[in-house]
Amino acid sequence: MNKDTFTFALLFSFLIFSCAKNTNTNQSNNDIYTKVDSLMSLMTIKEKIGQTIMYSGDWDVTGPVVSSNNMTLLKNGSLGAMLNVYSAKKTKELQKIAVDETRLGIPLLFGYDVIHGFRTIFPINLGHASSWDVEDIENSARIAAEEASSEGLHWTFAPMLDIGRDPRWGRVSEGAGEDVFLTNEIATAYIKGFQGQDLSMHNTILACAKHFVGYGAAQAGRDYHTVNMGEDELRNVYLPPFKAAVDAGVETFMTAFNEINGVPATGNKFIFRDILRDEWGFNGFVVTDYTAINELVPHGFAENEMHAAEIAIKAGIDLDMMSGAYKSYLEKLVHENKISVDLINDACRRILISKFKLGLFDDPYRYSVEERKINTIYKPEFLEAARKSAAMSSVLLKNNDDALPLSKTETIALIGPLVKDKENIIGNWAAAGDRKGKAISIFQGIKSYLNDANILYAKGCDINTNNKSGFKKAISLAKKADKIVLVMGENYHMSGEAASRTNIKIPGIQTELIKALRKEAPSKQIILILMNGRPLDLSEEDSLTDAILETWFPGTSGGYGVADVLFGEYNPSAKLPITFPRSIGQVPIYYNVKNTGRPIPLDNPKEDYKSNYIDSPNTPLYPFGHGLSYTNFEYSDITLSSNKIGVSDTLLVSVNIKNTGNYDGHEVAQLYIHDKVGSITRPVKELKGFEKIFLKKGEIKTVKFKLTSEDLKFFNGIEFTAEAGEFEIAISGTSDFSFMNSFELIR
Ligand code: BGC
Repeated sequence: MNKDTFTFALLFSFLIFSCAKNTNTNQSNNDIYTKVDSLMSLMTIKEKIGQTIMYSGDWDVTGPVVSSNNMTLLKNGSLGAMLNVYSAKKTKELQKIAVDETRLGIPLLFGYDVIHGFRTIFPINLGHASSWDVEDIENSARIAAEEASSEGLHWTFAPMLDIGRDPRWGRVSEGAGEDVFLTNEIATAYIKGFQGQDLSMHNTILACAKHFVGYGAAQAGRDYHTVNMGEDELRNVYLPPFKAAVDAGVETFMTAFNEINGVPATGNKFIFRDILRDEWGFNGFVVTDYTAINELVPHGFAENEMHAAEIAIKAGIDLDMMSGAYKSYLEKLVHENKISVDLINDACRRILISKFKLGLFDDPYRYSVEERKINTIYKPEFLEAARKSAAMSSVLLKNNDDALPLSKTETIALIGPLVKDKENIIGNWAAAGDRKGKAISIFQGIKSYLNDANILYAKGCDINTNNKSGFKKAISLAKKADKIVLVMGENYHMSGEAASRTNIKIPGIQTELIKALRKEAPSKQIILILMNGRPLDLSEEDSLTDAILETWFPGTSGGYGVADVLFGEYNPSAKLPITFPRSIGQVPIYYNVKNTGRPIPLDNPKEDYKSNYIDSPNTPLYPFGHGLSYTNFEYSDITLSSNKIGVSDTLLVSVNIKNTGNYDGHEVAQLYIHDKVGSITRPVKELKGFEKIFLKKGEIKTVKFKLTSEDLKFFNGIEFTAEAGEFEIAISGTSDFSFMNSFELIR
């Protein structure tokens, strides 16, 4: 038999086998495993290695393009996946090459950073986390998957589950903030939204839990920097969201760029083999972050790229994003007996399983259908959903003397570099979002509520230059208006990857402009609308303004959503998922700190030789969980079903919440506990539940939570356990409260 006849015979037997089983797209995992084994029995080592390689497409004015090197790899069957290539047309064209022109016709996998929307962009993730609305977040991920899958994508590199406690780190914008419980809930929501019920549907995509692990704890908030932490913090704070992702059925994981306790994540057997696979039973595939295998060399962990490839494959890393090390060295490593071929088989198998789950062997073009794209992108209901999310994610940080809501009859001086902005409003990592036409600016949103004559607009200044020439006009308009509304903040490049800042104030001379307006128009209320990707130091602005609305980067329909809040069409309900410090010197600052041996006395926070600062209070400017409404909520009658529970009991906790103000509105009731004594010390407060409720004005509702010993567990250095003893408990609308109730866990 010559080579071609031999190949044909093999392929034919595989196809017969495969097609015979292809009548049902919702294939069982066992079916899939058998098909993968059958396919792999036909594959050469080069073809198997090919499945472990991913390269990026490039971008041209005409759309995505693929370099000639990558084209060659593709045609040789030496490319398993591509990133940064989308559009129904282009993905179909490349897929056709993979299917028709390679020996085994294995389809390509197309991945992309669909982080907070694909075309219809939702608020940045930190913003959307402020909604504390997991259904809405799940819905946004569903919409993103609908849109992305209609343009040929099979896989998103999201959600990012890194706990973020340091606002200097630009990537806090991509996560769900500082809290473990909230991040766990949001992780589950994103994964359910992206992956849906059935991955073999044409509108569901693989999700990717990233970056495993500890990336958010980079020293000094500097991106890619070193991470050192004990197993206590690792297991109690940084790992749980990833465990929640595994429990939610996430299909893929991405490595982190950082080292952790001296071992770079991309070569870290302890986290990828011992924890992820052996302890948690994860059986999807692991992709590296961009060029992360090569980076083992500058990390000082590998002698050269060949050594780096050896370390990574041994650590259980399946797919090489962009480093080229697997391509160049895996086969050589086998020949030199440095690695077993089983490691390559395992990686290849896991990647192929995902391709089967997506149904790509049934129909490789199912995601690349032009008509579906036309009927899916920017559907009116998607834009409407993004508007609602923008409103739900805007946090009212302060609102003195009811400066907000605005009335439709007042004249406003609308000032600031972000008033008419469409470029920044969709934030960083905005996938295929439109930074020009499609985004709705704050100006457009406000215009939909006010007559032109009632809007006096001046840009005032830029985001980040020292040009004061616009101050004069801004001041003169401010004097004529009833209220001054400012739209200021960061540009979108100031957060996201490689965007750490040592100064977290509003950039440029924007604050100087606020000062000038305060001075020249002293009797006018100033309302500051902010767009930014991290907690800012707003101490000065807090003292200069009457109201502050934190809108983050609110997305494609952001202008409408924010205007809905400004005019009271939506009563703000968002709560901070991350603490806002008083100054950079307090960073990292978060609500669930440890008490220390020298906590500050409440009645004398400045007492000497206590754990405090000599030049600042310990407290933040705006705490985690904080966010105002146009109405007020009163919490009363917290009731516990018992003051003692055993390990298998359920504690019922309820509280009455009354809307005592003049607007209907939503409230996020937050349940906190404090484990008073532990075999390792426990945080002073820990969020353990939340519920978002709607109350008409005057209405009262009872909110109930259930708590079991499962909720009280923590890693004590040896195991996860709930330890007997006293727990304080509270339900509140913010993390800034004092405990009044307690119960005991008995064993
Ligand atoms: C980022 C990842 C991202 C990847 C692919 C990296 O630089 O750290 O979060 O998914 O690029 O774009």
